[in-house]
Amino acid sequence: MIRLNTENAENFIQKDSLKRELAKSLDALQTILNGTGEGGEKMGWLNLPLDIDDCMIDECNKIAKKWKGTVDVVVIIGIGGSYLGAKCAIEALSHTFSAYGMERNYPQIVYAGNGLCQEYFSDLMEFLSQRTYAVIAISKSGTTTEPAIAFRFLKEDIEKRFGKAIARERIVTITDARSGALRKLSDQEKYSSFYIPDSVVGRYSVLTPVGLLPIAVAGFDIAALAKGAIAARKRYTADDADNPAIRYAAVRNALYLSGKKIEIFINFNPKLHYFSEWLKQLYGESLGKKHKGIFPTAADFTTDLHSMGQYIQDGERILFETAILENGGGRMMTIGDIQGNVDGINYLTGRTIEDVNKAAIEGTRKAHVDGGVPNIVFEIGSLNEETLGEMFYFFETACAIDGYVLGVNPFDQNGVEEYKKNLFTLLGKPGYEKK
Ligand code: PA5
Repeated sequence: MIRLNTENAENFIQKDSLKRELAKSLDALQTILNGTGEGGEKMGWLNLPLDIDDCMIDECNKIAKKWKGTVDVVVIIGIGGSYLGAKCAIEALSHTFSAYGMERNYPQIVYAGNGLCQEYFSDLMEFLSQRTYAVIAISKSGTTTEPAIAFRFLKEDIEKRFGKAIARERIVTITDARSGALRKLSDQEKYSSFYIPDSVVGRYSVLTPVGLLPIAVAGFDIAALAKGAIAARKRYTADDADNPAIRYAAVRNALYLSGKKIEIFINFNPKLHYFSEWLKQLYGESLGKKHKGIFPTAADFTTDLHSMGQYIQDGERILFETAILENGGGRMMTIGDIQGNVDGINYLTGRTIEDVNKAAIEGTRKAHVDGGVPNIVFEIGSLNEETLGEMFYFFETACAIDGYVLGVNPFDQNGVEEYKKNLFTLLGKPGYEKK
């Protein structure tokens, strides 16, 4: 179970201010539960943990089973909320070197349609040309340029190399139930397909097949992920000032009002790098509106202590940190002794790397707090499927609460739509000439 510690952040906040923000957060939670806020029609995420039934789990696992052993690689096509949840879970749960020849029982997962870099794409096609592969094409709208281009190339390649019948076995789509080009194409080609409910926006969709199918295909236990999310639904929708989602939202808002405009999500385990990317998207796209909102960014420690550490310690005092700490896994790696102590670290002899990492966590927290950077900590226990299910739901809830306290609609993304429209206009998409 996630444990939240806000002690080193509350020291920076006036008691009255926190009290006010707690009350506002509780009100915001009621607005969410009643579905009466702006964007209330996009509140489907609230009950998603309960919607993950055995049938959905079986469907995903069936595809995972079919592709295990028959394809070397599965390409996940999608951008933003259509791939970040799956990617962050797969990175968090996989062996760090699974992409570098470690023996694996499941297909390797790679990504496409999450950018427009031609070099990335031509490298990908070269990589795939030596391998058998399957594709999961994900786009809620079914009209986003990046995944549409990627899908066009991969569909053509699979059909050319393996024939239409095999392509049908190796292409699965996840899109809107009724509208969009991907739905049309999918129905036309009779692909296996899942739909994303109308009431769920991309960045809140990880607990739909958008996240579940790729995670299952990568060999992980989606039933355990659902279990974590179900428990989280009960815990984090409680109308109680001790509810960690309420407290986290309130502390963030109190910090924001005191001039802390940037939140740095930090970790001490590289496997959590993409979880921070998911958080950046969740918070950035949900709350950065009406010229308001905390700017979410991320750092991987201790790596970034040797780059961003200087600014965090001593730059402008507009920052606060939110650390996500896990128990530490892997086998114990004990540091040995070197004759003559030539590298100067014999004082560490007999300690484990984990011990040293823990000292770095403590030392960093103290240095940054002393330097004027409030610090929030989440202790998440073991990094596994159940924990991830809980974390996804926790942060979705806390973020929605923040949105209503801030006075923005957390479930739209007009800013992103602006860029999409400009891209269509510049490329001459029919219907966008006037713009
Ligand atoms: O969170 C969101 O809604 C966005 O990040 C979308 O997921 C992203 O823009 C991709 O959109 P689509 O799934 O429609 O291709």
